[in-house]
Amino acid sequence: MSKSSAKARAHADIALIKYWGKQDEVLRLPVNDSLAISLEALSTTTKVTFDDSLESDQVVIGGQEFEANSKQATRVIKHLDRIRDLAGEKRHARVESKNSFPSGTGLSSSGSAFAALTMAATKALGLKLSTKQLSFLARQGSGSACRSVTGGIVQWFKGSDSDSSYSKTVFAHDYWDIRDVIAVVSDQTKLVSSTAGHKLAPTSPLFKARLSHVEDRLKQVKKAIMQKDFQALGEAVEQECFEFHAIAMTSRPSLFLWLPGSVAVFLAVRALRDQGVPAYATVNTGHNIQVLTLCEYESKVARALKSTPGVKSIIRSKISAGPEYL
Ligand code: PMV
Repeated sequence: MSKSSAKARAHADIALIKYWGKQDEVLRLPVNDSLAISLEALSTTTKVTFDDSLESDQVVIGGQEFEANSKQATRVIKHLDRIRDLAGEKRHARVESKNSFPSGTGLSSSGSAFAALTMAATKALGLKLSTKQLSFLARQGSGSACRSVTGGIVQWFKGSDSDSSYSKTVFAHDYWDIRDVIAVVSDQTKLVSSTAGHKLAPTSPLFKARLSHVEDRLKQVKKAIMQKDFQALGEAVEQECFEFHAIAMTSRPSLFLWLPGSVAVFLAVRALRDQGVPAYATVNTGHNIQVLTLCEYESKVARALKSTPGVKSIIRSKISAGPEYL
C-alpha cells in the first residue's frame, strides 16, 4: 500500500483592481492585470492524500463529502488530473478542505481553495515547483487562485499565454499596515458564479471603456501605495469597485449581486468619511462588503459596521504574508 499526503493553507484576497473578463476561457487568461491584498483572516486549509487503495477520488469540503459528479467535486478532480498528469501519477486522492470563512459569498473562497489544493497536491507528489510555476497551475483551477499562492499585495500579470500569466508580490505584507473590515451581510451562497460573470462581461456597453483605462488605474493604485497616500488609494479602489459592478449590472443578462445590507454598508462608509475616518469600500462578486482602513481606525470602523442595519457579523483582517505548508 502506498500513501503520500501534504497539507497547505492559503489565503483569499480582496481585489483592488478586479480581474473581470477572460482572453482565454480554458487557460483562464484575464483581459487585464489585477492587483489584490492577501487576507490573513480568510484562509483555506487543505490536506491531499494520494492513496493506491482508493478506487476513486474523494472530495470533502467543510466536513461534507461531495459526489464525484457534483459541480464542486468535478472541478477539484479536474485540477487533480492536471497535477497527476504533470507528475505521471496514477493513484486516486482524498481531498479534505476547510475554510475559515463563509464560502461562495463573494469572499474569493475559490482563490484560496485552489491555491491550497495546488500546493498540497504538488507537495504530496514530491513536485518541486517555484512560486511562479505554482501560480500557472493554480490559475487553471480558478483565476484568482494564481494570486493566492503568494502574499502581501499581489499583481497578476495577464500575459498572453499560459507561461506568461502569473502573479507575484509587489509590496510585502508589512510594507503598510492596511486593515480590511469585512461586513458579512449574509452567509447565503451567491446566485451568480464568477465563472458565469466573466463570460457576460463583454456584453456590457461599459466593458470596452474599462479596457481603455484599467491599466492606468492599476498604475495609479500602485503609485498611491508607493506614496502611502490612503485617500488616493481608497478613491481609486471605490471607483474600480463601482465600475466593475456597473459592468455586471449592465451585462446581458444583467447581474445584480448586492443585498440591502450591502448598500447600507456603502452608505455607512460614506458617513464614516464625513466624520474624518479614512475608510473605503469594495466588493468582489457577492454581497459581503470589504472596508479598507488604516490600523489606527480599525476598531472605529468595526464598531460602525457592526451597528449598521443588515450586518450580521464582522471579520477583521491584516495583510497576510502568504501561504504555508503545514
Ligand atoms: O477567480 P474568479 O473566477 O473567482 O474571479 C474573481 C473575480 C473577482 O473577484 C470579481 C475579481 C478578482 O480579481 O478577484
